[in-house]
Parts: sequence; structure tokens; C-alpha cells
Amino acid sequence: MEIGIVTIFPEIFGAVSGFGMTRRALESGNLAFSVFDVRDYASDRRRTVDDRPYGGGPGMVLTPGPLAECIDAARQKVSGPVVYLTPQGEQFDQGTARELAGLSGLILLCGRYEGVDERIVETRVDREISIGDYVLSGGEFPAMVIVDAVARLLPGVVGNEKSVLEDSFNEGMLDCPHYTRPENFEGLDVPKVLLSGNHEEIRQWRMEQALERTRVRRPDLVRSAGRSETEN
Ligand code: ADE
Repeated sequence: MEIGIVTIFPEIFGAVSGFGMTRRALESGNLAFSVFDVRDYASDRRRTVDDRPYGGGPGMVLTPGPLAECIDAARQKVSGPVVYLTPQGEQFDQGTARELAGLSGLILLCGRYEGVDERIVETRVDREISIGDYVLSGGEFPAMVIVDAVARLLPGVVGNEKSVLEDSFNEGMLDCPHYTRPENFEGLDVPKVLLSGNHEEIRQWRMEQALERTRVRRPDLVRSAGRSETEN
């Protein structure tokens, strides 16, 4: 899968290409990554990419000219929908991550300041996505969230593919608790069943724990899982 990023802060994405699972995804060739700097398409010497909003008010808006050229350059190289990261978008979740991971390409457009000129949304954007009901200063961190969530779903990326299958949210539920050595830590024992070697009992215990956690912490998920079961 190829992901293009349109941003005024290209350096931030060194965090994605330089570390951890996203780095492994790039090195293994399962993921390709291109970052496009909007300032490269500015027409003045100061590389200006923003201006004051028509109608007044605080903040700055990314101007459409350089942004359009930058997105068009990205589209020359990367196929797939242009996704604009904005609090006004549809809410990102594991289902969206799975959907995006099925694409051969994707362009993530990172806004800044008060946003991008609406005509960019009208002419260049296929989809608007929010990572949650809070306002960040730009779309770069949301884009990194999406790259991470999508990259780990690509075939061949996570070392243990089973771990992806057993993730939180894959059954529409939260994850069970996990333990490793030592058996006793500060007086707290690892649950005996996990030492039993009885795989069926362990599976059962984990499922019960996941269900109970979901019921207590996220009853909304239990309700929507129940609904989709009766729908199917
Ligand atoms: N840009 C600023 N805040 C955002 C959010 N919550 N989700 C996606 N993009 C954003």
C-alpha cells in the first residue's frame, strides 16, 4: 500500500518512517510512504501558504493555490482517495482502519491553523475523517494515528498476525488483561488459569475478561455488537 501525505510539516513524519512497526512496514516493502511539502508549491520567496480568513476572525487559513498544486502532485504519484483530517469529519475507528487498509493507495491531507480553504474540500477531497471530538492544532498527528492503525493491518506487517486478529475491537470488544514474567510482582500473582497450560480454559477466561471489561467500561460497544448480531 502507498500512502501520500500533504503537509506543511514534512519533518514530523520522520517519527513514522524512523521507528517501530511503521518503520518495519516500510522496510519490508508492505508500505510505501511519500511526503509532499505544501511550501514547495508556494509562489513567493517566503514560501507563504496561509492567509487571513475572509469575513474576519482569528487564525489563518491555508490558501488554495499551493495546496491544490501539492495535492495534484501527490495524485500523480499516489492513487486512491484524498482524505482530509478535520474535526468535522466522520469518526475514525477500527472499521475505518480495516477499510483503508484494503486500498492500494491513500492521500492524507493535513490541515493547519483554522483549516483549509473550503474550495479545496470541494474540488480535491474525497472523504473527511476526524480521530475524535477534540481539536488539535493540525492534521499531522491524526495522519500519524491513521498511518499506524492502517499499517499494522497490512498483510505481512505485524510479526504475529494472530495478535492483530485478537486485538481490541476486532470482535467489537475491548482487550483482555495481559501478563508476563515474573509470576509474582509486588505481591500480585498472575491469574492461575494462565499458568495452567489448558488452552481452552485460557481462551474462555480471556473472552470472559474482555466481555466484562467491555460491559463495564464501554457499554455502548456491547449494545452495538448486540445490534449487529441481530441485524446479520
Ligand atoms: N485536525 C485537528 N483536530 C483534528 C481531529 N480531532 N481529527 C482529525 N483532524 C484534526
